[in-house]
Amino acid sequence: CGIVGIVGRAFVADHLIEALRRLEYRGYDSAGIATLERGRLVRRRAEGKLANLAMSLRDEPLGGSIGIGHTRWATHGRPNETNAHPHATARLAVVHNGIIENFRELKAELQGFGIRFESETDTEVVAQLVSREMDQGLGPEEAVAACLPRLHGAFALGFIFSGYDDLLVGARHGAPLAIGFGEVEAGIGEIYLGSDALALAPFTEEITYLEEGDWAVLSRAGAVIHDIDGGLVERPRQRIVAQAYQVEKGNHRHFMAKEIHEQPEVVGRTLAHYVDLARSRIALPDALPFEFARLSRLSIAACGTAYYAGLVAKYWFETLARLPVEIDVASEARYREPPLDRDGLTLVISQSGETADTLASLRYAKAQGQHTLAVVNVPTSTIAREASAIVPTLAGPEIGVASTKAFSCQLTVLLCLAIVAGRARGTLSAERERELVDALITVPGLMAEATKREGEIEVLAREVSKARDVLYLGRGTSYPMALEGALKLKEISYIHAEGYAAGELKHGPIALIDESVPVIVIAPHDAIFEKTVSNMQEVAARGGRIILIGDAKGAAAAGLETLATVTMPDCDAVVAPIVYAVPIQLIAYHTAVFMGKDVDQPRNLAKSVTVE
Ligand code: G6P
Repeated sequence: CGIVGIVGRAFVADHLIEALRRLEYRGYDSAGIATLERGRLVRRRAEGKLANLAMSLRDEPLGGSIGIGHTRWATHGRPNETNAHPHATARLAVVHNGIIENFRELKAELQGFGIRFESETDTEVVAQLVSREMDQGLGPEEAVAACLPRLHGAFALGFIFSGYDDLLVGARHGAPLAIGFGEVEAGIGEIYLGSDALALAPFTEEITYLEEGDWAVLSRAGAVIHDIDGGLVERPRQRIVAQAYQVEKGNHRHFMAKEIHEQPEVVGRTLAHYVDLARSRIALPDALPFEFARLSRLSIAACGTAYYAGLVAKYWFETLARLPVEIDVASEARYREPPLDRDGLTLVISQSGETADTLASLRYAKAQGQHTLAVVNVPTSTIAREASAIVPTLAGPEIGVASTKAFSCQLTVLLCLAIVAGRARGTLSAERERELVDALITVPGLMAEATKREGEIEVLAREVSKARDVLYLGRGTSYPMALEGALKLKEISYIHAEGYAAGELKHGPIALIDESVPVIVIAPHDAIFEKTVSNMQEVAARGGRIILIGDAKGAAAAGLETLATVTMPDCDAVVAPIVYAVPIQLIAYHTAVFMGKDVDQPRNLAKSVTVE
């Protein structure tokens, strides 16, 4: 979900829609805007896609040179028009990201004063709470300031007020918010508020990120920022780089396709950042504030695809650096109260850097006295700012909800880190490091090679699209890849899919196998390949139809009849997960496209999940 706000010189409705369009990738199920027409609050909201809202505005436009807009991903209350933002009272309109955790108590209190609610949302409570303060005689800014300390949870807010044509108030508490500065003409400026720099990119090149707890008063004269204690503060202005990245689909039908095909380039860019080619070794640009050699354990927390990247990394850290790894999904790690050594290391992985559970795990680790290291794609994100050190992925903005290029860049960075750890712990010889670096630098080329299998994959995706269930199998690092393959498929095609460790097949999932269940086996020709072949035989013996993703040597050695074989280029087994990400993503992509699904914005999913 996303927030925008504009105090402009001309009608703002079209610009609000344009900004919201750039936030579409975050996932949403309703949208709305509010403006002031000659001081009077007016708003328009619509269920579903932005196109519905735009259509309704075309029929009945909204005037006004100040306004706020929102795309909503439902948390409290169904995604219908009544629950869509902005929420409003006679005095004000508000847009909100995140969750107000104590909204029930606040609502009961307000209902006690006879206030009636229109929607089921937590946001309307904010609108009513601030309105009530104004009823008691406070001005708009004072009313917001008085209410903020009463709101619990992680949120960002934007307000406009009836009768105040030059006033937009924004507040940041656990969800990101930025101010954009537009052009100044004849002493009158334009100013913007947005939950994402991308939304503001068409209008401004200069941006200020609010810090945790900040709230800001925006007018055509500029921004006045208060910190959590109410004091006036200055926050630095930065030039935004988002524009430098292409956020168009180019020649591709979907962002997801573009991002899959971009991988050779962005993995190459990420490698260039971490590999010292002249010396055939990994060189982190910034020193780490802890020593790998002194660690007795590494704890990893992440969500979704980032979690699977962490699971692959567990194998790398354990084999290359002999460093024991404990890994958990962040929503469990944060509440499980794991005992963590003081001065130990917690690693979090997040594309957006804003995932609520991952952030909470990071904060928990910090509270335990751990060093924290974050693999993030958005360097200005909350996780990036709160971690003791970051190792960025350089994937550029990822727009498709299903993560692809961020994942392969996460794997790339994690392998570089495992190599650094192995060197520091004396478990990796200079010679082995050189071999691994040589293997790593071939990865972009191998990924490009793998994309050439797209034609065959498109054909086999038709078979996959007929299935009700699909199994993914793999051993070693191919096991987390099987989990990721199953996640990708279910996210965008809605076909039920499960990933299993190939050796675990006989302990349950084998019961599912018949000719209607495709079994996708991820099996590069590595040290445990023969073991996976035995499992494939078990599948074949029960009439199961195998789709093998492996190299030519493996396919020949397996000697099995398969429904299809995706022949991958030969590569060092250590880097195979990065290269094998490509066919896994392409299978999911083409299956979903063939089935006519909304690949870039699958139902019910959000790109950046800032709620628990
Ligand atoms: C959402 C996205 C996933 C992503 C996960 C973690 O569920 O749909 O694609 O893997 O969040 O996001 P993060 O930004 O922390 O990597």
